[in-house]
Amino acid sequence: MVVYSPHKVIIFGEHAVVYGYPALSATVDLFAKIYLIPSRSGLQYTPFVQRTLAYLGLNNIYVKVETNVPSGSGLGTSSMIIAGILMSERNYTKEQLAKEAFSIEYETQGLGSPIDTSTISAGGFVLTNGNEGIPLWKIEKNGITWNFSSIPTRNMELVVVYSGSKGSTREQVAKVRKFYERGSFAKDIMKRIGGITQEGVKAVTNGDIAKVGELMNENHSELKVFGISTDQIEKIVSIGREYGYGAKLTGAGGGGAVIIVPRDKEKLLKKLKELNVMVFDTSTTSAGIFKRSE
Ligand code: MEV
Repeated sequence: MVVYSPHKVIIFGEHAVVYGYPALSATVDLFAKIYLIPSRSGLQYTPFVQRTLAYLGLNNIYVKVETNVPSGSGLGTSSMIIAGILMSERNYTKEQLAKEAFSIEYETQGLGSPIDTSTISAGGFVLTNGNEGIPLWKIEKNGITWNFSSIPTRNMELVVVYSGSKGSTREQVAKVRKFYERGSFAKDIMKRIGGITQEGVKAVTNGDIAKVGELMNENHSELKVFGISTDQIEKIVSIGREYGYGAKLTGAGGGGAVIIVPRDKEKLLKKLKELNVMVFDTSTTSAGIFKRSE
């Protein structure tokens, strides 16, 4: 049995989503293959894997993950692996999988929202806390409710760039939380990001990629204020702004990845190559996680 688990990107609204503001995410056409292989020696697990295997009562299992995308890239690796392990062993509805994977992720990480696990389970464009689309499910934790819906629309080309350094979701979410708890300025930023997401959903639905890019630029500028960008992310974003319709960091930041809506793709890829970064020339996909016998 092999599970195909897709990486995800947050198009608009990371960090704001932690506090219940809207966000738009999507699975991308970059799938990891996940296998559970019986093994007896020298097993070392990350806390996520350990907790997921313990939840299923599994021992002596090697979790093999085949992907070209580095972990810590902000593209949902831990959620994909948790969901992948669960799905290898049991049959879940998408909703059950989203909920169980989130609860394991939350227990391990102690913070964050269910956006990654829900996106990977549902596939396609997923809207958190908005009014548009086809309702999927609702998840509650610590007094915050996240409503998910699916936005059925055409896929969008995206160039995903790994900045070369890992970002820790835990650290970056904790950093932003300090600003959020301190005063109203961070709350105002989150509100503006929520507004950008709402406009962004319309732009994505209308296939208006120039507008999507413009809104990504705005979203990135808002996120930068929290100190979660890096010099390398800024270099990638500025190339993305020049040769694409727009660019932003995706996920928690502090390293990790940038997404770019390409305009002059040939030049864009050439300039990124000069920067010596890992580039994935991809697009969103309507597929979520699935399994197949091999
Ligand atoms: C991580 O992919 C996105 C964050 O908003 C954290 C979360 O929602 O769990 C930064």
